[in-house]
Amino acid sequence: MNEFSLATLKNILDIEDDQFSEDHIVQKIMEVHRNFTYSRENIKVYHNDLSLAKAYALFYLPTNIRKLPFVMNEVLRRMKFLPKLKLQTSKLSFHTLIDVGCGPGTMSLAYCLWAEDQIQNHGLPESWLPREMILVDVSLEMLSLAKKILSYFVPSIQLKTYSHLSQVPKEEFQNALLCFGHSLNEMSIQPQATHSQREKSFDEKILEQAFSFNPSAILMIEPGTFEFFQKAKYLRSQLTSEHNYQIVYPCPQSEGQCPMAEVGSPFEKEWCHQILRQSLPPDIERLSQQLSLDRKIMPMTSFFYIKPQQQQGNLIMKDPEAELFYPYRFFQETKYSFEYGFCGLPPSNYINSKDGTRTLELMKGVILKRSMSKAEEKLHKHQSLGVTLMRRSEMESELEWKKISNNSSNNSSNNSLNNSKDWQWEFRVKKISPKGDYDV
Ligand SMILES: C[S@@+](CC[C@H](N)C(=O)[O-])C[C@H]1O[C@@H](n2cnc3c(N)ncnc32)[C@H](O)[C@@H]1O
Repeated sequence: MNEFSLATLKNILDIEDDQFSEDHIVQKIMEVHRNFTYSRENIKVYHNDLSLAKAYALFYLPTNIRKLPFVMNEVLRRMKFLPKLKLQTSKLSFHTLIDVGCGPGTMSLAYCLWAEDQIQNHGLPESWLPREMILVDVSLEMLSLAKKILSYFVPSIQLKTYSHLSQVPKEEFQNALLCFGHSLNEMSIQPQATHSQREKSFDEKILEQAFSFNPSAILMIEPGTFEFFQKAKYLRSQLTSEHNYQIVYPCPQSEGQCPMAEVGSPFEKEWCHQILRQSLPPDIERLSQQLSLDRKIMPMTSFFYIKPQQQQGNLIMKDPEAELFYPYRFFQETKYSFEYGFCGLPPSNYINSKDGTRTLELMKGVILKRSMSKAEEKLHKHQSLGVTLMRRSEMESELEWKKISNNSSNNSSNNSLNNSKDWQWEFRVKKISPKGDYDV
């Protein structure tokens, strides 16, 4: 992917050094950052202040842009592994990309560059590259920056702009990829109350309407926080149970509710997220050091949903290859192993139960170092979280299962999930990634 250095972006946005010195940029980014974190009542202030919007574009676009290829490569990997999913996804065609809360166009740009590269170099069908992009943002300042940036990098794609998702005509959702990048986070979604018990918020009603227009796929890349994950769980349940969407990433094997959604379970406080580890262009790296903001290790919460063409139950689930283990949390490295929290189907659950439904569970996974080469071990230490995909068919002979009796007195002195007290299952992996699947 292109390097989005500070210098390139300043050039595209006609920002002269004398009006926007490095000190000035640092000060403005600090202001945006403060509003995102400590003073969230001011979170919307940057929307209508051009200098704050520019500062956002200069720092957050180049540091957020790699999240999308990370997620989309995982989507393609699942398509490759899961024949029934491949059947569904091969029919996908995105005439339009609708980028909600587009800001300076980060997600639209990332998607187009990713799709162009995949089409040219890896055989992705051309129908995955949109012919038009609909930019939606309440901030006119952001829309103007997004138009400049996208016209520069992807001039052949037609652009339309709207201030609100509710203004986008229904027909535009046909063959559309509906995309949210760090914007659902700013919308009023109230996960704590179930929808039958309360009046939905304005934003929830608009989202509900957009989902009911059946876009072909929905992509969400949002902050990797516990708070956002509560909203993500709510949307996950809306999309899968009320709008019949199928999750492709992160958990295509899911057929029921998220194991982290069970109220009162020891896993209620867990949250599903990924961590992207990346390097940055030197001038952005310097800026992030001046700001003391680490943008090389990026937690995020991402989902990719598709609308299956025919409703035949969960096609992917019935695919025997769909027995995946997904590492959602890294716990620790020990002398002998790497320890993770995994989401997947334990032995009690991977043989079809009577009614054919299988529920994901959280498990502790210990990956032994003994069969890793030094290079593999090093790769493991610097690996992004959310990438690894282990299929049972590949791993069967390498897995050792241990059923943990759920006796809290076992380890009562320690409340950490890492200490097995609450896990039902632990597995040890003797060998991982026989095909070098870590590379993204
Ligand atoms: C954190 S920025 C994200 C920008 C870009 N998508 C990215 O990933 O870098 C959030 C953007 O969402 C916009 N936004 C917030 N609430 C919105 C809403 N209800 N409708 C449309 N845009 C919204 C804000 O104006 C802002 O530009």
